[in-house]
Amino acid sequence: MDTHTHASASAARITHLDLDVQVAMDTRTISGTAGYAIRPNGSDTIFLDTDGLNVAAVRVDGQPVEFQLGDSTLLGRALGIPIKRNSKQIAVDYKTTSDAKALQWLSPQQTADRKHPFLFTQGQAILTRTWIPVQDSPGIRFTYNARVKVPAELMAVMSAANPQQRSAEGVYTFSMEQAIPAYLIALAVGDLDFRPLGERTGVYAERSMVEKAAWEFADTERMLEAAEALYGPYRWGRYDVIVLPPSFPFGGMENPRLTFATPTIIAGDRSLTALIAHELAHSWSGNLVTNATWNDFWLNEGFTVYFENRISEALYGESHAGMLQILGRQDLQGTLARLETEGHGADTHLRLHLEGRDPDDGMTDIAYEKGFAFLKLLEAKVGREKFDAFLRGYFDTFAFQSMTTDRFLTYLDEQLLAPNNVQLDITAWVDGPGLPADAPTPVSDKFTKVDAEVVRWQQGTAAASLNTKEWSTFEWMHFLRHLPKDLTDAQLNDLDNAFGLTKSGNAEVLAAWLEQCIRNDHDVAYPTLDRFLNTVGRRKFLVPLYTELIATEKGRLMAQDIYRSSRQNYHAVAVRTLDELLAWSANKPPATF
Ligand code: BES
Ligand code: ZN
Repeated sequence: MDTHTHASASAARITHLDLDVQVAMDTRTISGTAGYAIRPNGSDTIFLDTDGLNVAAVRVDGQPVEFQLGDSTLLGRALGIPIKRNSKQIAVDYKTTSDAKALQWLSPQQTADRKHPFLFTQGQAILTRTWIPVQDSPGIRFTYNARVKVPAELMAVMSAANPQQRSAEGVYTFSMEQAIPAYLIALAVGDLDFRPLGERTGVYAERSMVEKAAWEFADTERMLEAAEALYGPYRWGRYDVIVLPPSFPFGGMENPRLTFATPTIIAGDRSLTALIAHELAHSWSGNLVTNATWNDFWLNEGFTVYFENRISEALYGESHAGMLQILGRQDLQGTLARLETEGHGADTHLRLHLEGRDPDDGMTDIAYEKGFAFLKLLEAKVGREKFDAFLRGYFDTFAFQSMTTDRFLTYLDEQLLAPNNVQLDITAWVDGPGLPADAPTPVSDKFTKVDAEVVRWQQGTAAASLNTKEWSTFEWMHFLRHLPKDLTDAQLNDLDNAFGLTKSGNAEVLAAWLEQCIRNDHDVAYPTLDRFLNTVGRRKFLVPLYTELIATEKGRLMAQDIYRSSRQNYHAVAVRTLDELLAWSANKPPATF
């Protein structure tokens, strides 16, 4: 069923991982042994996924065996290990290579404190196989223990029960007692510090960041309580966050017990912490009930956006949540338009068809925001009370299981649609393009006021005289997204002088502003743009900025120039996207681009 793995859930499968590895920061390799408890299910071979790994030896129940490595494809290479009906354990001695796409090794200069190197992993969607030989399918769950040896001056943390103190010898042990799929295994190694936030919550970060992070994320414990009040107990013990260096390619990643987060959400005013609500919500939607294949990705992300918005509403009120919804809808409209013009109409369906493709290519705003719109429609049809009871029942019923789109639709019909006589064109939503006409439209009177200020400014009111005093980050984002398409240097200077946009410490505001500057060739902002693109590796910011740059001949040359130096600062998943966007070739002189 999952076309992105060499393993099969119904054949021989792993049930527990015992990982014993050393992390060498100098040679940038992870080496050691992945031991597994297995269930043979009558198979004579067990298949693991590997990609760019050096496999040295394999044992079955302690006895060396001859293993097979298959051809290298999009999925990597299958590792076939001969087993018997009663085999219990396998062990793989291996080493990572420089092709390990999950890993980003950072030099001290690429960290906040600039003293020590840093390593982090990113598993989703099919990258865990580049650092651990494993059955890498979201439909195959297992528990894990790990022993990780790192240089004594560094600390290691994983998506598991974590240390809060340093080990003198640099040896850390971890255990994840709840069964999880491989994409949720994660490791970070660096000069880390820890601060508690609440009883069950805390934050890890480099020393110079940890206080700022603790202040920014002060509401985390309340978010956890709000989430539990909505959809039932948090089943993972602790919930901690680690703030990574700025090259982290995503905003956040829901690694169980330890969300990985970009430092670009540390705005100094707690305005970008919906991302924490989002990753926390995945502890139910995604980590507890997991998309069975990457075609079902919307079951992870659409539900999480809905849940995230409910947490935001519980903590900060309806008007705050409404603004987030509108910004999300704007992103969706942009993505729909782009996918249509690029001829990828089928990628606008909720249910995807990613066979033969890198699943990362299908993971767009569609799953998030069209998925969210679908759930909002269901909520509107039956009312909140029934919808909440339905969702809570869904998480309880299918906890620690994987979910296909069909299985969900059957459950939805039985539990919600049929009993409440709801009429709905499910096929249009799930297997059709675009945004169906019955999608609820989010509204915000706060944004209506922002729209009025845009008009006043266009009609000649100076920027400094606009009514912006009460604006939050969301209003600024909305404002910047709705400026007229063509702006003069004088107009841009008027805005920048009044609002200090080029100097903004808020990455969302700065990125939205820089897009406008590029579009209008406002070159006083280019040094800031250059610095931003050279330090921040968050793909959501990089793609729109580079896209805007390559729209003109001058910008294309600039993009190539900046990318030539910044590429080394990006994680492999961002590099893959940008190499394609920029038609990058290291040897090609800029003039021929
Ligand atoms: N699970 C995703 C990140 C991801 C998606 C990694 C696809 C690899 C492939 C995470 O939960 C997420 O959605 N992050 C968002 C933040 C969110 C607030 C929408 C991001 O990184 O921007
Ligand atoms: Zn998510």
